[in-house]
Amino acid sequence: MSFEESEYGEVKEKPYSRSKMKLKHIRMIKGEKLRSIVVARIRVARLKMWAVRVLIMMLVWAIALQLKALGSPKVPKHSRLSYPLLPERIYHNNGYLMVSSNGGLNQMRTGICDMVTVARFLNVTLIVPELDNTSFWNDHSQFADIFDVEYFIASLRDQVHILKELPPQQKKKASESPFSMPPISWSNMTYYYNVILPRIQTHEVVHFQKTDARLANNGLPIEVQKLRCRVNYQALRFAPPIQELAEKIVRILRGKGPFLVLHLRYEMDMIAFSGCNEGCNDQETEELTKMRYAYPWWKEKVIDSVKKRQAGLCPLTPEETALTLQALGIDPTIQVYIAAGDIYGGERRLATLRAAYPNLVKKETLLPAKDLDPYRNHSNQMAALDYYVAAESDIFVPTNGGNMAKVVEGHRRFLEFKKTILLDRKALVDLIDLYRAGAISWEEFSSEVKEAHSDRMGNPTKRLVIPGKPKEEDYFYTNPEECLPQSADHDEP
Ligand SMILES: *[C@@H]1O[C@H](CO)[C@@H](O)[C@H](O)[C@H]1NC(C)=O
Ligand SMILES: *[C@@H]1O[C@H](CO)[C@@H](O)[C@H](O)[C@H]1NC(C)=O
Ligand SMILES: *[C@@H]1O[C@H](CO)[C@@H](O)[C@H](O)[C@H]1NC(C)=O
Ligand SMILES: *[C@@H]1O[C@H](CO)[C@@H](O)[C@H](O)[C@H]1NC(C)=O
Repeated sequence: MSFEESEYGEVKEKPYSRSKMKLKHIRMIKGEKLRSIVVARIRVARLKMWAVRVLIMMLVWAIALQLKALGSPKVPKHSRLSYPLLPERIYHNNGYLMVSSNGGLNQMRTGICDMVTVARFLNVTLIVPELDNTSFWNDHSQFADIFDVEYFIASLRDQVHILKELPPQQKKKASESPFSMPPISWSNMTYYYNVILPRIQTHEVVHFQKTDARLANNGLPIEVQKLRCRVNYQALRFAPPIQELAEKIVRILRGKGPFLVLHLRYEMDMIAFSGCNEGCNDQETEELTKMRYAYPWWKEKVIDSVKKRQAGLCPLTPEETALTLQALGIDPTIQVYIAAGDIYGGERRLATLRAAYPNLVKKETLLPAKDLDPYRNHSNQMAALDYYVAAESDIFVPTNGGNMAKVVEGHRRFLEFKKTILLDRKALVDLIDLYRAGAISWEEFSSEVKEAHSDRMGNPTKRLVIPGKPKEEDYFYTNPEECLPQSADHDEP
């Protein structure tokens, strides 16, 4: 089947042209003597037409069958680009997997990649993941609000069947006797084959309540790892309106020169949750503490901010960030795009950073208000915009080790090791304190900071493996070595 892009950006099937050329040709032949030949030719032509009609019907029938199996509309409707579709993978379907992805945008993103992979290797049909609408961020966006669902389904059809919803019969069954469970975290494929597959075979439909960190980082077959990457870096595109707006932001930035994306995770929730009060006044500290106690699922309540910071476990403050970028010798004229929500303390806390980097921007300052209005109440959609800009930037600097930082870091390695400065926060706070106390000069400070980061630029490295301690390892999606072209030989002499 071939697809091409129409004027309105819809991907449409090429029409089949019915040839009338033969009849036209026949009409041109004149003369009594030729009548019998003409009649014979007309018969042949009719026969050919019938043959063509039969062929067309068979084709249509074959296409319909394929689409029925795909269970989705004929063609990807709202996708802007044409794309070749690989032939659908035909396999014996072992059942249906429904999943509810939990967490913020990037946790859900990697969870989706894992679930597609699990469904593929268990030979089941995946239902388009339901997104978390109960999390802290209180965003009710569903899959199609954030990702290009048609493309997701179509581009993975050579691997796994994905349906938007259960077929009616299974839906009825699932609503009568639902089987829900969270799969065990950090499992390998053996678990999915030995424990999950039999459950799917018994119940026909299994629902996973969680998808975060359900697959191990390491020890998985290469085909499994590669499919995780393919989903993450190819199949998961943002929904066209988000994608277009994100591209617009990048266009505006590029038009003015190089840009650095600073994932300055200095937002109230993060500061309250982490208990890091560095640079906050007493009133703010009190407000943050109140917030921390207000959320029952934030387990850690009593936090020694000073100790935590010295251990390198606090997100850098805007002031610390400014010093760090300057010490690293980042050009003061570069555009610094802040990929974050509201910075706690607002402009007052951003003053130092703005003085050092006057070209400080964010999506709210680059775009007319009306462009962002549809997204403002959807934190995951706002985060999607920032994700795209961060992946595209010339330099990416995350100030904490959260999920966005990790997933974007991996994405940039995949994009041929684009520069990501992985801050060593423990070393930095030590050096910053020494510099602020006057114990070291600016030159000493700067050269120490550079030295500490010479090897932390997102260059090829081995993913840290710690058997039995998956949380302490490098996350697969932070360094998906198996999918990076240079990975095979970067350690060899
Ligand atoms: C899945 O299907 C393939 C054939 O497409 C088969 O080789 C494999 O054993 C099947 N695996 C499971 C778990 O059913
Ligand atoms: C979350 O989404 C599901 C369907 O995707 C819906 O049934 C449910 O009501 C939503 N919950 C909230 C709190 O919005
Ligand atoms: C899979 O995990 C189980 C324990 O969860 C372990 O015993 C087994 O060795 C692992 N298999 C592989 C191939 O790593
Ligand atoms: C966003 O939500 C707030 C309150 O929750 C509401 O007042 C506002 O109108 C909403 N904005 C849009 C654009 O929907």
